[in-house]
Amino acid sequence: MSSLIDGFDRRIRYVRISITDRCDFRCVYCMSEEMEFLPRSQVLSIDELAFVAEAFASLGVEKIRLTGGEPLVRRGVSDLVSRIGKLPGVRDLAMTTNGSMLDRYAEELRQGGLDRLNISLDSLRPDRFKALTRTGDLNKVLAGMRAAKKAGFEHIKLNAVILKNRNDDEILDLVQFACNEGIDISFIEEMPLGDVSDHRRDETFMSNDEVRARIEERYDLLPLAETTLGPSRYYRLVGEGSKIGFISPHSHNFCADCNRVRVTVEGRLLLCLGNEHSVDLKQVIREYPGNLEYLKQTIVDAMSLKPERHHFTTDGDVQVVRMMNMTGG
Ligand code: GTP
Ligand code: 5AD
Ligand code: SF4
Repeated sequence: MSSLIDGFDRRIRYVRISITDRCDFRCVYCMSEEMEFLPRSQVLSIDELAFVAEAFASLGVEKIRLTGGEPLVRRGVSDLVSRIGKLPGVRDLAMTTNGSMLDRYAEELRQGGLDRLNISLDSLRPDRFKALTRTGDLNKVLAGMRAAKKAGFEHIKLNAVILKNRNDDEILDLVQFACNEGIDISFIEEMPLGDVSDHRRDETFMSNDEVRARIEERYDLLPLAETTLGPSRYYRLVGEGSKIGFISPHSHNFCADCNRVRVTVEGRLLLCLGNEHSVDLKQVIREYPGNLEYLKQTIVDAMSLKPERHHFTTDGDVQVVRMMNMTGG
C-alpha cells in the first residue's frame, strides 16, 4: 500500500490541504462580503493536519500544498510547515497565500522547509487591488513578496485571476512586473464556486485563449513540456527569464491528467474541486486517534470515488455551492 490510484488509472501524487477558512481579504470571486467562519471545533487542529499529511506522504504523495482561506492567518502555521517539511517522500512543500503577512512569516517558513510560494496578485493599482480584494493593501503584498525573495525562496509564482472589464487591461503590466521581479506568473480562469454575488460570472468570464493572445501581441511564447504537477501549462517568454502559466479549467480541461485531491478545512477528503464526492477524514481521526493505518486505508478506499471530470460552465451558474475558501482553490 504505497501509492494512490483512482478508478481512471490516475496516480494521485499531489494533495492540497486547506488549513483555515479564514482570510483577511474578501476577493470578489472567492468570498461574499459578509462571511461566517467555522467554529474552531469543526476545523482540524495542527496535530490533526500534520497527521493527515503524514498519511498522504506514506501513500506516495510527493507534493503537498497548504492553502486556505489564507494559510498565514492560522496560528501554528510555521510549526505545521516544519513538521510536514520533515516527512520523508515530500519533495515539494508549497503554499498558496495572498502575501499580506509574508513579511512577518517568510523567514520562518523558509527555515521550516517550505519550498515554494504562490502569491495571488490580480492588480498592480492600489485602488483596484482594494476593490478586487475588498480589504487588501497592495503595498503589504508587495512587501511580502520581497520579504520572500530576501528569505531565499527561489520559486515564487504569482497567480492572477483575470476578469473581463475589471483587470483585463493589466495583463501585460502583470507580465512585465513578473519579468522585472524575475518570477513566474500564472493566469487563471475564474471558476464557478460559491455564490459570491459581487458580479455576474457570465459577464466577467475571460478565456485564457484571449489572455494569451493579448500577451502574444508583445511577446513570443514557447510551450514548455515541464509541469509542477499542478494544472498550469507553462510557456517561456522569449528573451525573458520568467515563465507564464495558464490554468484553464474551462477552455482546456485538464481533468484527464488530474493527479490531485484536496482536504478541506473540515477534514473532508474532496476528490475533485468541481464535484462534491468526499469522505470524512475528521471523523476517522477523531474516532480512532493515532491510528495511521486506518486513516491510510480510508484514503485508499476513497480513491474509487474520484470522478472523471468537472462540468464547469461559464454561463454564470454556480455548480458547486461550497465556497472557494473552504477548499483552498
Ligand atoms: P503550482 O504547484 O505552482 O503549479 O500551483 P498550483 O496551480 O497547483 O496551485 P495554486 O494554489 O497556485 O492554484 C492555482 C489555481 O489553480 C487555483 O485557482 C486553483 O483553484 C486551481 N486549481 C488547482 N488544482 C485544480 C484542479 O484540480 N482543478 C481545477 N479546476 N482548478 C485547479
Ligand atoms: N476561480 C478561480 N480562481 C480562484 N481563486 C479563488 N477563487 C477563485 C475562483 N472562483 C484563486 C485565488 C488564489 C488561488 C488559490 O485560487 O486567486 O490564487
Ligand atoms: Fe482570501 Fe484567497 Fe479567497 Fe482572496 S482568494 S478572499 S486572498 S482566500
